[in-house]
Amino acid sequence: EEFDFGMVGLGVMGRNLLLNMADHGFSVAGLDLDAEKAASLEQEATEEHKVKGTTDAQSFVALIKKPRAIMLLVPAGKPVDAVINSLLPYLEEGDIVVDGGNSYFPDTNRRVEELEAKGIHFFGMGISGGEKGARFGPSMMPGGNQSAYERLRPIFEAIAAKVNGEPCVTYLGKGSAGNYTKMVHNGIEYAIMELIAETYDLLKRGFGVKNETIQQLFEDWNNSELASFLVEITADILKKNDEVTGKGLLLDYISDTARAKGTGKWTSQNAMDIQAPVPSIDAAVQMRDISKYKEERVAASKLLPYDGIATDIDEETLLKTLKDAFYFSMINIYAQGMAQLYIASKEYDYGLQLEEVAKIWRGGCIIRAVCLEDFRKAYDANKDLPNLLLDATLAEKVGATQQAARDVVKLAVDKGVPVSVFMTALAYFDSYRSETLPTNLIQAQRDFFGAHKYERTDVDGIFHTEWN
Ligand code: 6PG
Repeated sequence: EEFDFGMVGLGVMGRNLLLNMADHGFSVAGLDLDAEKAASLEQEATEEHKVKGTTDAQSFVALIKKPRAIMLLVPAGKPVDAVINSLLPYLEEGDIVVDGGNSYFPDTNRRVEELEAKGIHFFGMGISGGEKGARFGPSMMPGGNQSAYERLRPIFEAIAAKVNGEPCVTYLGKGSAGNYTKMVHNGIEYAIMELIAETYDLLKRGFGVKNETIQQLFEDWNNSELASFLVEITADILKKNDEVTGKGLLLDYISDTARAKGTGKWTSQNAMDIQAPVPSIDAAVQMRDISKYKEERVAASKLLPYDGIATDIDEETLLKTLKDAFYFSMINIYAQGMAQLYIASKEYDYGLQLEEVAKIWRGGCIIRAVCLEDFRKAYDANKDLPNLLLDATLAEKVGATQQAARDVVKLAVDKGVPVSVFMTALAYFDSYRSETLPTNLIQAQRDFFGAHKYERTDVDGIFHTEWN
């Protein structure tokens, strides 16, 4: 009973998080059934670090100070339950188990309930930032029992990324609030990644712009209000030559079939359940799915050609327009995701404070971007803001860039390049700012064929009409 913190699962993420804690003076113990991984933790540690790796659950639990704080970093799903069951015989009332993986949030609710019944506090905590983030400062999204969080707080605040000295971690809410927030983070991540990919595609395939020019563009953007981790790494990717074959840019030789582990899909699926429209996240998930049908796409490319029509835009104007359109779309993507969190927080009684979410997303995580500070300010000005588009400052910036978004969509249509996220971001904007929508006609149709009734704008009540 001498170690401050325990970790189960000593893959690179688990190891790096422990070493990060050890850097900050905490003593840490790790458990992995794989003896090599357990040993590698101690090998990677320095003299000043107090670390211990083991392969035995019972002696591992005995190493940790009470009330124990133990994190699991194992694959989501059955492995999480298996590890919990293997620890349970040795855990005591008041101990805390933190699941640091991308678990499906209903699983977290179930685990919270099962473990609270035994007096053990269970936390679902999203961790973002990849291997480097884990080692030098991730963004962390914990949810669970608020008073139990105090045991974890000093450790998590020490290891988190810092922005203006403030740690990118905070208690988010009860139950699965943390996992849910990380799930939506990933949905936004999918959409921004796709937005960047569409920018690249429109320039390269639509306008024949050279790789070097596109590289420079992303580099310039990263020194502007578009500065963000994903834009930054894209500029790096566009510089990386293939060292193995020496044939030039590695990107040109990477297969265009995209994979996914499910968090983006869950974001869209749950958004539909709670009626939170996130069309750009849906589109990003669907584009990865379409990419899978390579053979069919090759056949269709021959059967359904479209060469595009000439446009008279010069390269400088094109790049400037894209920049504004990118800003516009980016804000609309975050607006969709944050609005989903707003709706989910009410639906599941999470008690999320969106200012805090924006705050801990400013650093460490994959979707960190300078615009997050603008979002934080918007939520600071209005704690109950349902949608970022209703913030006056952001509305002005989005208003000023909307024409560029319209122009980019038109250009893409003329070139036959798919820009689903640009298009859905614009369609979301245009529907959200529509005082009236043609859904009156939908209601009339429903009543026509199914007697589903409708409300009127001029008289209270519920109506049905014999239409023919
Ligand atoms: C992060 C990431 C990470 C995620 C991967 C892969 O915040 O560090 O979101 O948690 O697992 O990016 O996601 P896909 O395989 O679904 O693209």
